[in-house]
Amino acid sequence: MADAAVEQEFGKGSGPWSMPIEQLDPSRPEYFLANEHGEYFRRLRKEDPIHFTPQSAFGAFWSITKFDDIVKVETNPGVFSSEPSIIIGDASDNFEPPMFIAMDPPVHDVQRLAASPAVAPQRLSELEDLIRQRAGVILDGLPVGESFNWVERVSKELTTQMLATLFDVPWEDRYLLPYWSDIATSAEAVGSTFDQAERQRIMFECLVYFQKLWVERAAAEPKFDFISLMAHNPQTKDMISNPLEMVGNLMLLIVGGNDTTRNSISGGVYFLNKNPGEYAKLKADPSLIPNMVSEIIRYQTPLSHMRRTAKEDFVLNGKQIKKGDKVVLWYCSGNRDETAIDNPDAFVIDRGRARHHISFGFGIHRCMGNRMAEMQLRVLWEEIMKRFENIELVQEPKRVLSNFVNGYEELMVRVHPRA
Ligand code: HEM
Repeated sequence: MADAAVEQEFGKGSGPWSMPIEQLDPSRPEYFLANEHGEYFRRLRKEDPIHFTPQSAFGAFWSITKFDDIVKVETNPGVFSSEPSIIIGDASDNFEPPMFIAMDPPVHDVQRLAASPAVAPQRLSELEDLIRQRAGVILDGLPVGESFNWVERVSKELTTQMLATLFDVPWEDRYLLPYWSDIATSAEAVGSTFDQAERQRIMFECLVYFQKLWVERAAAEPKFDFISLMAHNPQTKDMISNPLEMVGNLMLLIVGGNDTTRNSISGGVYFLNKNPGEYAKLKADPSLIPNMVSEIIRYQTPLSHMRRTAKEDFVLNGKQIKKGDKVVLWYCSGNRDETAIDNPDAFVIDRGRARHHISFGFGIHRCMGNRMAEMQLRVLWEEIMKRFENIELVQEPKRVLSNFVNGYEELMVRVHPRA
């Protein structure tokens, strides 16, 4: 598919290595859908690591493709702002509430601090048994002998249950969370035909739902769920008087933990099937699970990019970035940077320094839920290894058409219980 599109635009023989480099636009979602984006980024890292694309479906933008350059940009928020948006496209003018991932200090820092106790180490150890028990129930309910979609039955289910706990929403309402997350991100989804007026209506329902919970939590004893924490923190408790900001931040916490963890859970099953030698290592030594989890998250890179906007002119490695330019940090490329990571194209579950990856970003916006995500994956894999000899991939996955979320719509598998 990608080849055909490229050929149409640049003529026969074009491809990642033969098109004129100044025409290379690595943001094209069809490259990601076909899982062919890697070669475009390999060429950029080699020939033009800080690359300007003057025209694309998302406007003009700079691509930062090397690990160390991504870190340089992320550690300079004074020049490279997270406002107004952290995705390559321009925000739609339809319901784009403020949220702290798309804010700069000092407001960012205050709001992040208020929400972070929900995923602090102490809280995670309290939640581990619950996650283990829920993972067990999900795995014990899988249809042995049939092929089924792992994304729906396991990845989505476990992350939805976890989100319901982090927000402490009534159990019967839990499916509202991924539903709202999908609607919220539908404005950015490439090719989405979702009606924008309908999106606005549903987002308003979501706002009313959280407003009610916020008021209830503010009147009750403080607890460790996201809503209670923000409703009781002196710095954020008045957010209720700006309901858009309240719902924006709650949506950030839902969206942040939703697709990312879900796609890492699915990715692990896929990578082990594609690398039987690694699956054999895991079976021989399940104590490799924590290290494997980091490798899965690197290899998947669930979010392909984050974007910054230059607040002033700045020269980065000799390239003149102008005030107002979009600067896209391609994590999917940084994680395959051969000058930062040994043998980066290989999936190696016992790799040294496995946490040395850029999937969680870097600096003041580094993923707030990173330990939570790692814990969910670790516990799930521990429970999988107790039950199943093999999770067999029965066909190639259907991927998401996006240059932002790197994930799977469908991953068909069959499970083989241990004898
Ligand atoms: C920010 C990735 C799971 C909550 C981020 C960023 C990335 C990311 C790339 C932006 C970092 C930057 O700009 O430097 C991931 C991945 C995950 C994951 C790969 C799973 C494998 C989670 C979970 C939660 C969460 C489980 C919460 C329950 C957040 C929040 C932010 C964030 C609140 C904004 C932090 C800030 O702006 O200060 N995440 N995330 N994430 N993530 Fe995650």
